[in-house]
Order: sequence, then C-alpha cells, then structure tokens
Amino acid sequence: MNEIRVGLLGLGTIGTGVARILIEQQELMSRRLGKTLRLAAVADRNLEGDRGLDLSGVRMCSDAQDIVTAGDIDLVIELIGGYEPARSFVATAIEHGKHVVTANKALIAKHGEELFPLARKHGVAIGFEAAVGGGIPCLKALREGLAANAVESVYGILNGTCNFILTKMENEGADYAEVLKEAQELGYAEADPTFDVEGVDTAHKLSILASMAFGSRIRFDEVFTEGISNITAADIEAVRELGYRIKLLGIAKPHGQNGQVESIEMHVHPTLVPVEAQIAQVSDSYNAVQVSGDFVEHTMYFGRGAGERPTASAVMADVMDIARVLPGGVEYLAPPMAYVEEERRDVATLPMADVECEYYIRLMVNDEPGVIAAVTSILADQRISLEAVLQKERHAGHQVPIILMAHETTEGNLQAAMARITELAAVNENVLILRKESFGA
Ligand code: HSE
Repeated sequence: MNEIRVGLLGLGTIGTGVARILIEQQELMSRRLGKTLRLAAVADRNLEGDRGLDLSGVRMCSDAQDIVTAGDIDLVIELIGGYEPARSFVATAIEHGKHVVTANKALIAKHGEELFPLARKHGVAIGFEAAVGGGIPCLKALREGLAANAVESVYGILNGTCNFILTKMENEGADYAEVLKEAQELGYAEADPTFDVEGVDTAHKLSILASMAFGSRIRFDEVFTEGISNITAADIEAVRELGYRIKLLGIAKPHGQNGQVESIEMHVHPTLVPVEAQIAQVSDSYNAVQVSGDFVEHTMYFGRGAGERPTASAVMADVMDIARVLPGGVEYLAPPMAYVEEERRDVATLPMADVECEYYIRLMVNDEPGVIAAVTSILADQRISLEAVLQKERHAGHQVPIILMAHETTEGNLQAAMARITELAAVNENVLILRKESFGA
C-alpha cells in the first residue's frame, strides 16, 4: 500500500491546518514514510469561503457519511469535535474498516471505552495524540518513552484558552471577557468556550492521561472539576504578592500499596503554583504535561496546546504512525491506551473529600474585632493548621479581604470548616478557595 487515501471530516480551524499540512508537507512526509498520503476527500457542512487552500482534485462532500462509508478511503481524520455526531461517524468509519485519527478529547474521554474494542474487532487503529496537549507529543511519550515506569503523578496545564486568559490577566491586568474573545478569535477555544473556562476540556484530557498513566479505564465523569471563571484580577495580584501564580491544572495521582493502584485521584481546578516552579513559567496558549515515573523521575513536555498548525502537526504524527504499518500490521502499533487491553483495570476514583491538599482561602469579612479569632478557632477545631493569616486592608465597618494559607488537610475537612466559617455573620459568602501544589521540579 504505497498510497494512503485520507478522508477529512471537518474543515474548521484544525481541519484547515490538517489539509494544509497534507498539501504543503506531502513530500517531506513521503520521504519519512516511504509512502504517500493523499487527501482524497473532505466533508464539511459549510464548504463556502476561501481557506487559502488549493483543494482541486479533492472530493468535497457536505455529508460526512459519504466519507466514512466510502470504498476509496483508507483512513478518516475526525475533526468535527464534540460528542455527537462525531461518535457516530467514527463508529461507522471503524465498522467500514477505516483507521481513524481524531483530535477530539471529548469523544475519547466519553466514548473511548466503546470505540477501542470496536476498533480491535474490525482490525483498525485509533490515534488521538492531538486530543491532549495540542501539538505536544505527550501521549507518545507516556505510551512509549515511559513504558518501563510506574507513573507516580501526572500534572498538566492542558487548556490553551485558560492559560492564555490567566497569563494576560496577570501580565496586562486584562479583562477576562476581552481575553476570552481574543482566544476565540485565535482559534484556541472550543465551539462552546464554557468547556474551556469551566475546566471540562482539561478534565477530558486529564481522564485520558490518567487512564494511560495508570492502566485504568477512563472515568471522565468522576473528575472533580472547577474552572477559572470566578478568578478576578485582584485575586491574581494577591497571590502574586505572595510569590505564586494561578494555573488551571489537571492533577492525577495513584494510591495503593505494593505497586498496586487501588484508587486514583483526579482533579482539575485553579491551582497556586510557586512562581519559581517550571510549570509556572508556562504562559500564553502553551501547555505543559509533567509526568513523574519511578525510574525516570520528573519529565516535562511543553509546547503549543491549541491552534491550527500545532494541532495539525499532532494529527499527522498519528496518521504517519498508522500509515507506516499498513497494510495490515496495526498489531505492531503500541496499544492506544498504553496497556494491552486485557491488562487495563477498572480502578476507583478517590473521592475528592479524601484528597489531601494545601489551601489558599480568601474571605471577605466585616472589619470588626474577633473575626479572625472566630475563623481560626473553627479551623483549629477541624485540626487544620495555618501557615499564614493576612489581612490586606484596614477599613473599619466595611468588608475587607482576609487570606488564610492552610497546611495539608483533606478536602472533606476543609469543606466542613468552610461550611461553618461562611455561617459566621461577619463573613461574606464570596469565598475563593485555591488548592496549592509545590512540585518536585
Ligand atoms: N480549546 C482547547 C484549548 C483546544 O484551549 O486548549 C485544544 O484542545
């Protein structure tokens, strides 16, 4: 099979990038593959408009169904995004014996566990490098480069839109809504940007990473998820003065004994990271994934997490991996989820109440005697030890911010204390809780 015929579903930002790379880099890729990748067909509901591409000789379809069932397509690239109709098109393509490459993290997080067995049944491959970390080849690193390690933790800045927003808010004091609009114009944001800013996109990606890292089945619905939409410029400034940055992190760690993974903690939330930590240096739409393994120690993968060209680059890496082993031969590819299917386990997610963190708590309180004493006595009752208490302003009779830095405790314990603290008459309900991570690198 010296020519691989590619069908592309979706000609939006990423689809345009993939069509462009297939055209512009064809010769380079052929020299690396010893085979030719030919863009044979493209489907999009809206084929109007000039995307700056010469698609002459490419079959243009307004219905993706025509591509996933076509006899003259070997490999389908799904770039529609979202759960449906992407899931149906991918399933149909597999049932018609086509290999599939997708950048769709929502699809893999939610439906991967039904699509992987379907692909095995039909002897085809599924590639999804572009689904996590945009252009960073982090899944390949985890699946292949770190294959001999027991993974000890995975941390990631996994959403370019949120990182872009937080960076601009910190560096330029920019307005949240304005920066979100800019991220959308640059093609970073999801079709529904609440998936970005509410942490859902990061949770999709974290659930895939955790499953690959720990040999467990994907449990996206169990990821604890908080977004960045309630972070204000004042909060960013307050943590900066304390030597921290706020990053939206996805965090996954295994728990168990004697090398057995008995449960996995998975959480996504705005996180305080020390300004000198490497992950704190990751700015704009860049992503970073930090994986620690028992032999390799700390590793970190960095690059553009979103956008047309970086994501197209990751899509094509998968296409080339699959093309290399054709015809037949998909059994020579590394298992998509990094463990052979029979060895993947159904591992429980550690309840968030049992997860241990350090905390930054910002309260708004009436500036009157005894408030800090009342708050700290509740924390002491819950056996939560404090590293620092700061009152930032003096404004008798008005509300002022109080910042508490708490040593490690469980989320359940912290929430029990917060429920009592917010019942105090002098404490406003406007509370910001940020979890803190220190990092080994
Ligand atoms: N909306 C995603 C982001 C695109 O901002 O990172 C890449 O998955």
